[in-house]
Amino acid sequence: MEEALLQQAALMLRDARRIVVFTGAGISAESGVPTFRDDLTGLWARFDAHQLATPEAFHADPDLVWGWYEWRRARVRRAQPNAGHLAIAAIEAQVPDCTLVTQNVDDLHERAGSRLAIHLHGSLFAPRCVAAAAHPATFPAPPDGEAGEPPEGRRIPPPRCSSCAALVRPGVVWFGEGLPEAALSAAVDAASACDVLLTVGTSGVVYPAAEIPRIAARSGATVIQINPQRTPLDEVCAVNLRGTSAQVLPALVAATWGPNGEG
Ligand code: OAD
Repeated sequence: MEEALLQQAALMLRDARRIVVFTGAGISAESGVPTFRDDLTGLWARFDAHQLATPEAFHADPDLVWGWYEWRRARVRRAQPNAGHLAIAAIEAQVPDCTLVTQNVDDLHERAGSRLAIHLHGSLFAPRCVAAAAHPATFPAPPDGEAGEPPEGRRIPPPRCSSCAALVRPGVVWFGEGLPEAALSAAVDAASACDVLLTVGTSGVVYPAAEIPRIAARSGATVIQINPQRTPLDEVCAVNLRGTSAQVLPALVAATWGPNGEG
């Protein structure tokens, strides 16, 4: 990563009053959570995520799909926030008007101390009743206990709703489903009104989430991207910082506010 680009991005951040940070799977890669477009590993390598993350897949084989989510949930529980997540929490501490919008279904931003992330694609930790959104779904106990190995490749029957006995499903957005309306509209509002949007670790190809940095750019905000690879968002970004989020974000925070955040 070029030092001059880092300094340019730091100046932009220092001048910003309203900031949006928009994250994708890449921010959690250095915590050991695979990105969405990585090959699935282990026993799950024989399944295609696009075939598991759909309402049809859950309807056809709920035990298979619930087992996959139990495995993913167990992996996330064992993961720790990395220096990139912590740097985003540090930006929030510096800038009162900072909104964090994530496409991730993990809870690593929250565990890093971020205030309140807008989860555009739901959460692994918010299961719900398939029949009625209003029915409270108590969180099921992990099959092997928190400390156990992830139940990789195991079929696990989903629990039943305690109100109506319908199946409980993962509280994530599946292919073919709409995004949660309140989350999407809060993200659009924040992107329309910010001075700087920082897009981190996303391929920028899954819509409507991928509109968020584009909306910011159209509304006159400066968009800065952190990603080791080129993405379709390069064209709307004023600065592209090529590197991993755990390396670039702490360096950017230090270049903007000093090594101890002295401002
Ligand atoms: P992707 O898996 O599509 O893209 C991950 C991006 O992170 C890529 O552009 C990588 O170059 C970048 N990357 C990898 N390692 C990185 C690192 N250490 N630091 C920074 N960047 C890194 O993930 P998303 O863009 O989040 O949707 O995918 C968007 C949506 O597609 C997901 O939320 C999911 C999926 O379908 C739903 O589940 C609805």
